[in-house]
Parts: sequence; structure tokens; C-alpha cells
Amino acid sequence: MAPQHVVIDDRFRIHGGARLVGEVFVGGAKNSVLKLMAASLLAVGKTTIANVPAIADVEIMSDLLRRLGCTVTHEGALLTIEVPQVPMHRADYDLVRKMRASINVLGPLVARIGRAEVALPGGDAIGSRGLDFHIKGLESLGATAHVEHGYVIAEAPQGLTGAPISLDFPSVGATENLMTAAVLAQGVTTIENAAREPDLVDLGEFLIAMGAQIEGLGSPVITITGVKKLSPTHHVTVSDRIIAGTWAFAAAMTQGDITIHGARADHMEVMLEKLTSAGAIVTSTADGVRVKMEQRPTAVDVATLPYPGFATDLLPFIIAMNSIAEGDSLVTENVFESRFMFVNELSRLGAQVHVDGHHASIHGITQLSGAPVEATDIRAGAGLVLAALVAEGVTTVDGAFHVDRGYPKFAEQLRALGADVTRE
Ligand code: UD1
Repeated sequence: MAPQHVVIDDRFRIHGGARLVGEVFVGGAKNSVLKLMAASLLAVGKTTIANVPAIADVEIMSDLLRRLGCTVTHEGALLTIEVPQVPMHRADYDLVRKMRASINVLGPLVARIGRAEVALPGGDAIGSRGLDFHIKGLESLGATAHVEHGYVIAEAPQGLTGAPISLDFPSVGATENLMTAAVLAQGVTTIENAAREPDLVDLGEFLIAMGAQIEGLGSPVITITGVKKLSPTHHVTVSDRIIAGTWAFAAAMTQGDITIHGARADHMEVMLEKLTSAGAIVTSTADGVRVKMEQRPTAVDVATLPYPGFATDLLPFIIAMNSIAEGDSLVTENVFESRFMFVNELSRLGAQVHVDGHHASIHGITQLSGAPVEATDIRAGAGLVLAALVAEGVTTVDGAFHVDRGYPKFAEQLRALGADVTRE
């Protein structure tokens, strides 16, 4: 009999040294599509979502929605979700632990059916990721919410009531959960110190197309006037600015030249300014951005911040670039305390990075050297692959499944740009 629980994990094998040159196409954002999928629970009937990336997290969210009673089908980049009259209310541990975004079913379920039980989520190991803003916010809307036996249990049998909410930090997930709850609450909700990420704006526009009344998207104050009912809609997922950013860093680090079709330069302003300071030539194209580098990068100081600041998800890339840049730099992480776990792995390639609290000081060296390393999360995995591209010799990056959660066909795309990358 075949043994059970066999885990077969792929790794990337990279032979460094190639300049990446060519074109890539960026699809829909992981951090948007997963939230659109969860929010589809708000309307009975058939929602369709286009520009859906072929990543593992979309499969996990599809399974979660099926478990809640939905029918989910894929056809290429088009996803169809049929939501029943009364979905189930329990999101089980075995699925939720694989992906943080599962928590996004909380708000829609409480709003639609007055009850939700969602296992405490997993996802990336990038620091303690509280749910206190989600829970306090739902309580402000009149729900009872508490954590019991590893589940968040929220109830509002009489429905939710709009209220003023102020977040201590502009949390993306909390703003999303509260917005998707408030759209069906009775009366007006204001969310102060709301997140402003393009993914959140995309979700808000999706809700508006379903019939929600929302003002202030993309600003720090969102005002939602509850409606009685929402209708299913069709929506095109916003472009993935983090994947576009990954390709931009790949061009800069390898002294390459990549045209990134589908990139939204208006969602990447701070990041592109930093790359320009590092010496890259950034130009807008008809449908995206072209990033070209003709010299060794110059080190740049960066502090991550909520949008429109420099995204925390790009932290591994800026550290990897600075580690081979001319000069010393300081990179400060202000959102997730454990993103620096990646630095231990990068050091195996010879990078000179010293971490002190939430600061990393980096001394740029001329050449990294290949070594076996391990991905600890999606972006750390992609960051190690980029570092491997500029390391001398062979690097293996274990934990390819992390990268699969966020990057469709990463190795194939890298090969098409001239990289020597295989999966084994
Ligand atoms: C989302 C993104 C993630 C990105 C992050 C910040 C998804 C699936 N993930 O994560 O890729 O890096 O936004 O742009 O979209 N916090 C609390 N209490 C709460 C909620 C959050 O203390 O109730 C803290 C977190 O621990 C963290 C900070 O707030 O330090 C930001 O978290 P948040 O913006 O909520 O990130 P996510 O939505 O989890």
C-alpha cells in the first residue's frame, strides 16, 4: 500500500549569470482575486471573475468556497462561482491554515447569514498577524465575535448595524473584512485609517458593481451605506503590482531589459522611483512598463509602509538588489516583523546583511556565490531565486510550493527571459 502523507516538494535549480532580456505578461493580483472570490458569497447566483492567475492559492480558495456550498469552475483565466441561497458558515482548519486570505470569508458570511466560524488562518511565516482589528470592527457593527478552540466565531442573528470604526493601523485584511460586512449592514459605516492598497480598491469596485454604496476608496476614510441585497456581477481582476515589481527587480539586478506588459505604473510609483535611484531606466509603454539596467545597481535606502508606500511584499527584492549594489544601505521593515527571516537564507549566498530589530544594514558586494537555500514564504522564495540569478555557480531553492502560491509558471517565465532555471 502506498504510504500516506507523502510530501513531494519541488526545488528550483538556478545557474546564475544570465542577463534577463525580453517580455513578460502580468495577470491578475493574488491579493485581489482571493478577496473577490470571498466577497462573491455576498450575492446569491453566478459571479464571474476574469484575469484570474493560475496560482495555487486560487485553488485553495476555490476549495474553501466549495466547502461552503458554492460551485466553482475555471476556464483558463475565467472563474465562475455559483453561490447558493444559504451557504454553510464553517471554514475548516485543513483549508484555512494553508492561506491567510481565507479569513476574508468572515465578513461576507456574517453579513449574509449572520454566522461564521473560521479557523485561525495560516499563510506565510512573516510575523504575528493578529485578527484583533477584524474582531473589534465586527463587534462595532453589532456582531458578537470571539476565538474558541482555534476558530473565530462571529454571530449577528439580527443583522449588522453601520457604525464608525477607526483602525489603529491601516490593515488590508481588516479593512476588507469590515467593508464586506458593512455593505449589507443597516445604516452608515465609516472606516477611518483604512488601507488604500489597489487590491482593496479593486474589491470596493467589485462590491459597487454588485450594488453596494461605497465612497472614499483609495483614501484613508471609506464610507459605506448598507443596502438590503447585492447582485452577482462580472469583474476583471486588477493587475498584480507585486509580480510586476518582481520582474522590475529581476531586470535591475541582472542588468537586463524587461518589458512588463500589463504592469500598472500608477500602482508602482515609489518602487519605480527607487529603481530609478538605483540606476535603472524606467519607461512607460503602451500597456505596461519597461525596466532596463546598464550598470551595477547603486544601493538605495528603503522603508516599507502601507500603500502608497514601498510595499512590504517587495522587501526581499530590495534587500537582494542592495546586497549586490555599489555602496551601503539601510532597509527598514514597518509592517511585518519576521520578513527578515529571508536574510538568513540570503546570507548563505554570501550577502552581507546585518539585522537589528526592524532595520537591515546591507553592504553591497560584487558577487554572490551559489548555495542551497530554502524559501520561507512566497516573496522570500522569489527573492532567493532573483539572488540566485546573479550568484556565481549553482543555487538550489527548496520550498518551490511557496512560490507557486503567488507566481504562475515562474521557472518557465524566467527561462523565456534567458535564465538557466529548472525545477527538480
Ligand atoms: C495583506 C497581504 C500581504 C501584504 C499585507 C500588507 C493578502 C492575502 N496579504 O496581508 O501580502 O504583505 O497585506 O500589505 O492580501 N494587524 C494587527 N491586527 C489585525 C490585523 C493586522 O495587528 O487585526 C497587523 C499585522 O500583524 C501586521 C499589520 O497589521 O503587522 C499589517 O497587516 P495587514 O495589512 O492586515 O496584512 P494582511 O491583510 O494580513
